[in-house]
Amino acid sequence: MPRRTLIRGAQVVLPRETTRTNVLVEAGRIATVDAPASVRADETVDADGLHLLPGLVDDQVHFRDPGLTHKEDLRSGSRACAAGGVTSFLEMPNTVPQTVTVDALAAKLEIARRKCVVNYGFYMGATTGNVAELQNASRTAGVATPGIKVFMGSSTGDMLVDDQERLEEIFALTSLPITAHCEDESTVRANQARLEAAGPTTVRDHSRIRDRRAAVTATRRALDLARRHKHRFHVLHVSTADEVALLGSCAGAGDGLVTAEACPHHLFLDVSDYGRLGALAQMNPSLKEASDREALWRGLKNGALQIVATDHAPHTLEEKRAPYPASPSGVPAVELVLPLMLDAVHRGKCTLNDLAAWMSDGPARIWDMVGKGRIEDRYDADLVLVDTSMEREVRNEDQITKCGWSPWHGTRLTGWPVRTWVGGRTVFAGDWVAREPVGRQIVFDHARGGYWATGGPSGGP
Ligand code: DOR
Repeated sequence: MPRRTLIRGAQVVLPRETTRTNVLVEAGRIATVDAPASVRADETVDADGLHLLPGLVDDQVHFRDPGLTHKEDLRSGSRACAAGGVTSFLEMPNTVPQTVTVDALAAKLEIARRKCVVNYGFYMGATTGNVAELQNASRTAGVATPGIKVFMGSSTGDMLVDDQERLEEIFALTSLPITAHCEDESTVRANQARLEAAGPTTVRDHSRIRDRRAAVTATRRALDLARRHKHRFHVLHVSTADEVALLGSCAGAGDGLVTAEACPHHLFLDVSDYGRLGALAQMNPSLKEASDREALWRGLKNGALQIVATDHAPHTLEEKRAPYPASPSGVPAVELVLPLMLDAVHRGKCTLNDLAAWMSDGPARIWDMVGKGRIEDRYDADLVLVDTSMEREVRNEDQITKCGWSPWHGTRLTGWPVRTWVGGRTVFAGDWVAREPVGRQIVFDHARGGYWATGGPSGGP
């Protein structure tokens, strides 16, 4: 690895502005964001006409390793990240075995050390009986975790915790930040029973079974738990206008405890896409109406939602071909979320500074990551260079994710990453993607107190 790299002449997306400057990287960190163009370096990258962004931080991926590696593994998933400009990811516990003990977390970290091309962190999963393990996870040296994931609605894997007493216990007795999948299980089951009684269901019924009420009921319940227990809480994959309204009332001015995110499938697809995509548009929470999709964009713009994350959830095409409801829920997105969002910038839906706040700085601060999310002196040199005018069509054949398909196959997008660095090392350039385990374990400093304690949308000093 070159010790000193000069990235010269890019439009650099800084926390508050975008400006043309020269970024000097030294020993894996950003040495200075305004180096003289003539500074001595081992490598100089001419970035004239390109934009330099902080590497994306994706706080919700399912990489299936260990146990379900025919769908994805930590090498294939992290390589897809590298090609998509995602330099850090947080992975979910619904693997086999589930990440519900400190030992399982340590084992996953060990696999990651051998395979991950980008930086990694892993959630601890809650069960109906592992509070002691969740407590241990915050005390055991070397097995750092961003927080606790609760499936308050069932999804892929068998990790449901929806019993009120158990939920109260998790919120009362643990100290790590909590995040949850919010779909109300009893609403989902009642909807399913009603629809199945009327005849065979199809994939279009997925949005009637996992309907708006299921999402809102669970999110309301989770917010109530977080507030009563004064526990930091992050709502995953918000899918409805109603939740955006609910979250708007507690963002910022509220108690500083709650953050929330939107995913690309809910931002770029809606129920009208079932006809075209069938089970390739099946995920949990389900797709909603076009009006919900637009409400999510407004929620990001007005601060009710703080970040964008993928919920990258690969399943093979063969698995997806099973007739509904046997078709599994989930879509891949880590390598396309940046082009999708750059295309949204191109169409005027948001700015590059929004993108960096929602996809780098925001998630890094929500989860108390050290040295991540910004192009600023002394931050880690996790960077992505993008060409905002490059136009290309998404094709299944080009996907690096092991599942080899995308719901955006055939879509033309403007704005693509051209080079990615992790800790100052190039992991993606042109059509080359690294295989070496360059990624590092992310360090979490939970004493920082999360997004609101570090300045909220303005991002502090
Ligand atoms: O659609 C989904 N798929 N939603 C989830 O919450 C889980 C995920 C998976 O792991 O397949």
